[in-house]
Amino acid sequence: MRDVAVIGVGLTKFGELWDKSFRQLIAEAGSQAILDAKIEGKDINALYIGSMSSGRFVEQEHIGALVAEVSGFSHLHIPATRVEGACASGALAVREGYFSIASGLNDIVVVGGIEKMNDVGGSQATAILATAADQEWEAFFGATFPGIYAMIATRHMHEYGTTKEQLAHVAVKNHANGALNPYAQYQKPITLDTVMKSTMVASPLGLMDCSPVSDGAASIVLCAADKAKNYTDKPIKIIGSGQASDTLALHGRRDICTLDSTVHAAQQAYKQAQIGPKDISFAEVHDCFTIAEICAIEDLGFVEKGKGGSAIEQKITTLDGTLPVNTSGGLKAKGHPVGATGVAQIVELTMQLRNEAGKRQVKDARYGLAHNVGGSGATCVVHIMEAM
Ligand code: COA
Repeated sequence: MRDVAVIGVGLTKFGELWDKSFRQLIAEAGSQAILDAKIEGKDINALYIGSMSSGRFVEQEHIGALVAEVSGFSHLHIPATRVEGACASGALAVREGYFSIASGLNDIVVVGGIEKMNDVGGSQATAILATAADQEWEAFFGATFPGIYAMIATRHMHEYGTTKEQLAHVAVKNHANGALNPYAQYQKPITLDTVMKSTMVASPLGLMDCSPVSDGAASIVLCAADKAKNYTDKPIKIIGSGQASDTLALHGRRDICTLDSTVHAAQQAYKQAQIGPKDISFAEVHDCFTIAEICAIEDLGFVEKGKGGSAIEQKITTLDGTLPVNTSGGLKAKGHPVGATGVAQIVELTMQLRNEAGKRQVKDARYGLAHNVGGSGATCVVHIMEAM
C-alpha cells in the first residue's frame, strides 16, 4: 500500500444556514479545499462524498454526480461516488478515498461530507436520524438517539459511578473550545450550571448534553504521499485507518457502555500507525452526546474503562490538558451536520498538525486521532495522522 497525505482542506461554517443551499455548501467547502491544494479539475482522479440522508433532509439523492456538477467538473467525467454509514458517512468517504490512492489506482482524490438538516422541522430531523437505529427493535418502540444514548449514560452511571456533573464538564469544555473556532455553530462559552439546568431531553441528558441539528459541509484533498510535496510544503500523512461494525441495536451488545466497534477500529489504526494511545497528542472524538465522549476516551484506550468521567472532571482533556480532546468544539459546539462530521474532523487534525489552528492550537502536536461513529456504534472509523 502507498502512503497517503492530505494536501488541502475546506470547511463551511456550521449552523442553521438558512441563506445557503445544499449545492452552495458543497461548492463552498470543495472549492476551498481545491484552492488550498493548488490543484485543478484535470488533476482530480475521483470524488467521494459522505452524506447520511440527503434524500430525506433535502429530497436529493444521487449526490455523487451532483458534487461533480456543482464543482464545475461535469465535462471531465470524474468518477463520483456517494458513501453512507449514518453519522460515520464522512469518515467512510475519507477511507474510500484513502484506499483508492493507497492501492495505486488514483493519485489525487477529493473527499467531501455534507448534511443540510434544518430544512425539515426538529421532530422530522429526529425521525430521520432514528432511521440509523434498528427499526424493528429500537425506532418502532419510540427510541430516538437522545433516548438510546440516555440508556448508555444511565448504565455508565450505574456501573462506574459517573455523575451528571461529569457529563456536563464535557459540554463546558467543548463549548469553550468552540468559542475559539470561527467555523463552530456555537461560539459562546457556557457554565456547568447552564448545562446542569438545561431542559431535559432524555434523562439524564439535557439539551446541553446533546449535539445540535446542523447544516454544513467539509472537504479534503488526498494525494499520494510521494507526490504531496509538489503541491504543499505541509502535507499531513494518514498513518493509520481502521473501521469496524457492531449490532445496530444496543441490546445485542456484549456491554452497552463499551462501543466495541471503536475498540476494534482503534486497534487497527494503532497497529498500522505503529503507535499506541499514549502517543496521541490530541483527538477529535464523536461526542454526539456528552456520554459518547466519555465512552470514546475509554474505548480508544486513553483512560481505563469507567474512568472517563473523572478524567474529564480532572481536566485532562482541556486545551491545556495532557490530552486535548475536541479542540474544534466537537460535535457538541462546532455542530453535527452528520455526513460532514467525519470529514470536518480530518480538517481539524490537518489544521492542528499544520500549526494553523489559531487560538485553539495544541502545542507540539505530533499525532492526531479522529474518531467518527455511525448510530450508537454500529459503525466506527478511526484515523491517525502525522505531519510529514
Ligand atoms: N446545544 C446547545 N444549544 C442548542 C442545542 C444544542 N444541542 N440545540 C438547540 N440549541 C439552542 C438553539 O440555538 C436555540 O437557542 P436560541 O433560543 O438562543 O435561538 C434553543 O437552544 C432552542 O433551539 P431549538 O431548535 O428549539 O431546540 P430543540 O428543542 O428543537 O432541539 C435538541 C434541541 C437537543 C432536541 C436537538 O438539538 C437534537 O435533537 N439534538 C440531537 C441531534 C442528534 O440526535 N444527532 C445525531 C446523534 S447520533
